[in-house]
Amino acid sequence: MKFPSVKGFRDVLPDESARWSWIEQQARAVFQRYNVTEIRVPIVERTSLFTRSIGDTTDIVEKEMYTFLDRDGTSLSLRPEGTASVVRAYVEHAVAQREPVSKWFYLGPMFRRERPQRGRLRQFSQIGIEVIGRDDAAADAEVLLLLYDLLESLRVSGVEVQINSLGCPKCRPRYREILTAYGRARHEQLCENCQRRLERNPFRLLDCKTPSCQQATADAPTMLDHLCAECAEHFAAVRAILAREQIEASVNPRIVRGLDYYNRTAFEVLAPGLGAQNAIGAGGRYDGLVKDLGGPDIGGVGFALGVERLVMVLPEMEVGHLPEVFICPLGTAAEMEAMHLAHRMRREDMRVEIDAGSKSLKSQMRRADRSGARYVLIIGEEEVVEQAATVRDMVAKRDHPKAIPLALSGSELRTALARLGEQAAASA
Ligand code: HAM
Repeated sequence: MKFPSVKGFRDVLPDESARWSWIEQQARAVFQRYNVTEIRVPIVERTSLFTRSIGDTTDIVEKEMYTFLDRDGTSLSLRPEGTASVVRAYVEHAVAQREPVSKWFYLGPMFRRERPQRGRLRQFSQIGIEVIGRDDAAADAEVLLLLYDLLESLRVSGVEVQINSLGCPKCRPRYREILTAYGRARHEQLCENCQRRLERNPFRLLDCKTPSCQQATADAPTMLDHLCAECAEHFAAVRAILAREQIEASVNPRIVRGLDYYNRTAFEVLAPGLGAQNAIGAGGRYDGLVKDLGGPDIGGVGFALGVERLVMVLPEMEVGHLPEVFICPLGTAAEMEAMHLAHRMRREDMRVEIDAGSKSLKSQMRRADRSGARYVLIIGEEEVVEQAATVRDMVAKRDHPKAIPLALSGSELRTALARLGEQAAASA
């Protein structure tokens, strides 16, 4: 009987997980430079948290959440994203009373029951940041600068950051009316989905992928043309700071975002090579959210990158680590010596692999070769008698019979191997 994994849920095997760790390391280093600290929030929350924050007319809440009743009848959901939980934690721990501005990052799995395809999973991982307690344009710009620095340190090339402004509760209602009227006039040409949600969420007209909708709404009015003076000023200020840093974010007035909490600045990170699921990240400002979830009336801004999609656009590179030493013992007595040797070396911080189980030298050497280790230490019967291991230098392709005394300490072993390497380099 076989037990296949669940559709949309995948394993990350060591070949790939080395790249994940590398991405996380790079991200942690960039976060540190911006004084952003880590928050860890639970994977399960009350369903009402997401309905309230993401919005009950969004695809995520309408049809993509993994929701279940707990034994006491409470409706719980696996988190489909991180922002809601982070803001919930911020409010719950009354962080605003302790610090005026909080800059937090998080990483971990999110769950959305979407139709799986390339780059789209039901469990996926995000690296995200939230800056809570600032409503000024410089905060948006700082978050965007962090994003650019992170993309640069990940060496992903060809990605584009597109930004837009979604207005605020002062100017958006008027624009919503205009857009709804525009959609009504073209009702027949819209896809079923857009027809259905036109009155409830007309903004989605702008990012519908159906060709007929795209054609019908090609000249749709944009939020940018209807921003109030404060929102227009805010957007201009964000762009001015980016321009000063020589970053030319392209403006895309059709960015609307699939979550309701956004206002003002919204952005997406697009990678052209990825096909339909080409957004490797997205974010924006959410000024009403903290208050909506029971906290003070303060602003927030952040973004999240999808790790699976990042891995897909990462350049080819050696991010895994190879063992430095591979030990091949032949026979039981040799195995004992080999274990002792490996233990001492590992305590010296060396990366050591060991074969055992009375296999032939040939099969052990095949494994050693595949491991990529530079030095193979062979301990056969003679080596045990003479208490010295034979070294095969896989790079210089040279043998050093009984060159490493088994009695050496961990640090002496390290030095002895380094000396063999130097000899090989000098004679090359
Ligand atoms: P989001 O656009 O829903 O935003 O997701 C951010 C990123 O997560 C996407 O750009 C994508 O890379 C990845 N992602 C989303 N769904 C999937 C999926 N089914 N499979 C694979 N990757 C996926 C948010 O989640 C907001 N919380 C971002 C944010 C933070 N805004 C402010 N702060």
